[in-house]
Amino acid sequence: MDGCTDAVARAWSAEEFGAAAGEWQRLLTEHLREVMAGRTKVLNWSDPQQSAQAAAAWLEHPLAAGPDGVAGGMRQLLQQMLSAGQNLHHPHYIGHQVPASSPLAGLLDGAAAITNQVMAVYEMGPWATAVEQALVSRLCGLTGWDPSTSSGILTHGGSLANLTALLTARNVALPQSWRDGVPAGTTMVANADVHYCITRAAGILGLGAAAVQKVPLDARRRMDVQRLDDVLIGLRRGNRPVIAVSACAGATPTGAIDDLSAVADVCRRHEVWMHVDAAHGGSLLFSRRYRDRLKGIAAADSVVWDAHKMLFVPALCTAVLYRRREVRFETFQQDAPYLFDPSAPGMADIDVGMRTVECTKRATGFGLWGLWALFGAELFEQLVDRMLQLTMRFRELLNSEADFEALHEPECNILAFRHLPAEVRLLSLAEQNRFQRELRTQLIREGSFYIVQTTLDGMAALRATVINPLTTEQDLRDLLTAVRQCGQRVWNL
Ligand SMILES: Cc1ncc(COP(=O)(O)O)c(C=O)c1O
Repeated sequence: MDGCTDAVARAWSAEEFGAAAGEWQRLLTEHLREVMAGRTKVLNWSDPQQSAQAAAAWLEHPLAAGPDGVAGGMRQLLQQMLSAGQNLHHPHYIGHQVPASSPLAGLLDGAAAITNQVMAVYEMGPWATAVEQALVSRLCGLTGWDPSTSSGILTHGGSLANLTALLTARNVALPQSWRDGVPAGTTMVANADVHYCITRAAGILGLGAAAVQKVPLDARRRMDVQRLDDVLIGLRRGNRPVIAVSACAGATPTGAIDDLSAVADVCRRHEVWMHVDAAHGGSLLFSRRYRDRLKGIAAADSVVWDAHKMLFVPALCTAVLYRRREVRFETFQQDAPYLFDPSAPGMADIDVGMRTVECTKRATGFGLWGLWALFGAELFEQLVDRMLQLTMRFRELLNSEADFEALHEPECNILAFRHLPAEVRLLSLAEQNRFQRELRTQLIREGSFYIVQTTLDGMAALRATVINPLTTEQDLRDLLTAVRQCGQRVWNL
């Protein structure tokens, strides 16, 4: 590397890379072995300000210039990273809807990052584009559509995916809106438990977050279909344009799945775009045992499906799927001649940048493609079945204990519950809520388990997402013991 400084030459040296990668492999393998066996903490909690200062301190003196060189510096950096993070691969990680991803999928993502495979136009990521097309086609097929008449893209997460699908819905419902903005009174209708990104999308799309009409839920926290009908009738009477109905297949608080067939009937009758946020629950379509829970999804106009949830690949990898192929260019009407060659119009379908928010887009599909290629679709079915069965077992365990209360029947792998020892039962709801929250904070900071919290109709609850193939029934029993012990400490404070 003639004329390069020493730092530049070393940062791009294949030999230095090989030596650093050796350290990387050794440390990561050891780390995974320890974490997966449960011999570490789950969350390495530390004060956020102190952590930021510690991270900044690493930027003071270039490690590669020191005696340990690049490989030694990489070792130190990795040791720091791995000792201060969230250990999702610990069997006691039963928290957010982010999985203990398959480390093998991470290897392919890592290869894509190292070779910086990106997308927007085919020629920047030919294999990444091919992989994306293959995956979209399979996922459309699982949704119940003919891949030759449906379409889709991969993008960076459920939030961006929902925004993209709803933008397409808006442009189809109101074709002038891309240029002129939306007329006053434009609205979107949604399940009252939709993820906040749906409301956020309404803000971004120019409707205003307050324009989202939330449909009340039934006893199973599914969108009440009669109320949906009523809301749509009211909006029509008021001459208010509706861009979409957003239903849930795996709502964030409890994993509830709307009656999609019934929602589809109502949407069809009102001629409204049916969107299904299946970010969480879409993966049930892999399971012969559980796919019926999403019956009716094939009638949706758009579906969002996170692979970085129950398909166990590293974040982020999300599909936006359209039932009708012809809507795929409605999302954007962007003119970018430097990217999209007018002399090759056939490339519009291949160049994914025409259909995604991103211009440069990380190749997000390699992890999913790799797991599928290595183990077949059966792997995803087995994972889904295991997560759901374990969650149902967890509910039985909770129900068999007098001081625990499961708050719903699980429809997928999410379960909200409360710990209510006799003395806490006597407290007001506000005090019971404080108890649940304090006990969770204490539990996760101690590092023995990681669960999250939610609030259902004003009631604070503990919330577990069984999203780790290493978690066993015994771990769930141990969770109850740990919650109890933690509850005692909080009570005695
Ligand atoms: C139902 C649902 N939709 C969308 C999202 C947002 O997805 P992401 O975190 O990938 O942006 C979530 C996140 O958990 C979710 O539960």
